[in-house]
Amino acid sequence: MFDTISSQASKLIKLTNKVRNNSYSKTKLITITSGKGGVGKTTFTANIAFLLAKRGFNVAVLDADIGLANMQVLFNIKPQSSFFDYIDGVKTLDEVILKTPYPNVSLIAGKSGYQYTSNTNSFIFSRVVKDVVALNRFDILLIDTGAGLNDYVKEFLSISDNILALTTTDPSALTDVYSLMKMLSLEKNKLMLCFNHTKSYQIGETIANSLVNLAKKNRLNEDFMVEYIGNVSTSANITTTGRLRKLFSKEFLGDESTKQLQMIIDLILKNIH
Ligand SMILES: Nc1ncnc2c1ncn2[C@@H]1O[C@H](COP(=O)(O)OP(=O)(O)OP(=O)(O)O)[C@@H](O)[C@H]1O
Ligand SMILES: [Mg+2]
Repeated sequence: MFDTISSQASKLIKLTNKVRNNSYSKTKLITITSGKGGVGKTTFTANIAFLLAKRGFNVAVLDADIGLANMQVLFNIKPQSSFFDYIDGVKTLDEVILKTPYPNVSLIAGKSGYQYTSNTNSFIFSRVVKDVVALNRFDILLIDTGAGLNDYVKEFLSISDNILALTTTDPSALTDVYSLMKMLSLEKNKLMLCFNHTKSYQIGETIANSLVNLAKKNRLNEDFMVEYIGNVSTSANITTTGRLRKLFSKEFLGDESTKQLQMIIDLILKNIH
């Protein structure tokens, strides 16, 4: 009668426990996701990594956008290896942890156009996360996921207790973020919610509250909390620096968006465990 847990689910639970039972490791995992594509996850993650490193944290970024990896573009490096090389056993973990131009920011690159043909369920991908955590070298490991809620994204969400959803106020982005909330409420306690392309902190807060009210109305798990952690305005400097393969938070320290990111980081640091 106990065979009701599917083998896939039990595999996942084992994997999650392995990552979570990391009392021996100082590394905190934060997975950045959105549902809708193109809302600014990769830009946000790279800049958060830079600002966290400036605050003294040793940070690693994993590009978990399977098939469409592009974090290396923002860090302006041409990786000779990706984390698939580690999974395939052709490179060591150290060989796939790459230096970026930014002190204390490492990149574990993905690979564009990669098709993992032999892979029917994707649980093997997050092994790299478990192993980086076990290294006990980084204070924070940021995982940048791809768009959508496919199996790859779900896998990286499953192994992280700290999940940050970035969205815009666009109705389709909000619909996707609500779907994400619904899914996460089944197995997680908390979601950090952040608004990009949103000028006003209050607008983000109001919409976050509406999402929470909708969740209550629809009776999502009562223990599931949504923590609003702030907003980032649209800024031409962000688009321009992205095009130049630079980080806006480095080039435009005094910009409103950089200040907004600093406030977001204050709240991230309060919320993660
Ligand atoms: N606040 C902002 N102001 C102006 N431009 C922005 C802002 N945030 C992101 N962008 C721009 O939006 C575009 C998409 O950003 P990005 O690639 O980071 O999104 P993404 O969510 O990672 O996309 P995907 O879902 O495809 O991975 C980029 O050109 C980036 O420079
Ligand atoms: Mg991206």
